[in-house]
Amino acid sequence: MRFSAVVQIAISLAAVAFGAAQGAVSVKRQMESNHGTGDLATPADGTVISSGATYNFGYENVNGCESGYSPITVWILASPPVFADLNTTGEFNSSDCLFSYGEYLIPNFGLPAMSSPPPPPSTLEMPDLGVPSGDVYLAVVESLIDCPPDIPLEYSLTFNTISYEV
Ligand SMILES: *[C@@H]1O[C@H](CO)[C@@H](O)[C@H](O)[C@H]1NC(C)=O
Ligand SMILES: *[C@@H]1O[C@H](CO)[C@@H](O)[C@H](O)[C@H]1NC(C)=O
Repeated sequence: MRFSAVVQIAISLAAVAFGAAQGAVSVKRQMESNHGTGDLATPADGTVISSGATYNFGYENVNGCESGYSPITVWILASPPVFADLNTTGEFNSSDCLFSYGEYLIPNFGLPAMSSPPPPPSTLEMPDLGVPSGDVYLAVVESLIDCPPDIPLEYSLTFNTISYEV
């Protein structure tokens, strides 16, 4: 059976689109997680946190490629983050963020915690962000490491809205 001209054109257009997507991924060498995102359970969306207050921090990692340790970074941003805000090293440019808590390493499968970077603490302190009271965004970026070598490094981005009080 011969494909009609229309079907053939559709197939070549799809091939072009696929090729373009492949090219974009291989140039960028990083991509959004295909394994879902982690869960920032606490502080819950909408939690009110005052400057200087200590709050509970609980993040459930994705660990999509079952690595021994999951690196995460924790950020406070002035606007709701999107994946495209991450720079080539999977971080927010300093101009885009109000505060960075830095990097933590979550041990998986009962492995011992590392000291540098340490595991995420169960509480964090809200710094003085230097902005008026209002919504800020607490974001966690997880690196999905140890995926097969042909897969670019994947990042999972998740965030909750926090009502910041000066
Ligand atoms: C981050 O900053 C670098 C250098 O200024 C810039 O080239 C890049 O586009 C920025 N990335 C994002 C995602 O804003
Ligand atoms: C990505 O962001 C981090 C943290 O803000 C910064 O140290 C690094 O220089 C940035 N990378 C680029 C390529 O702009």
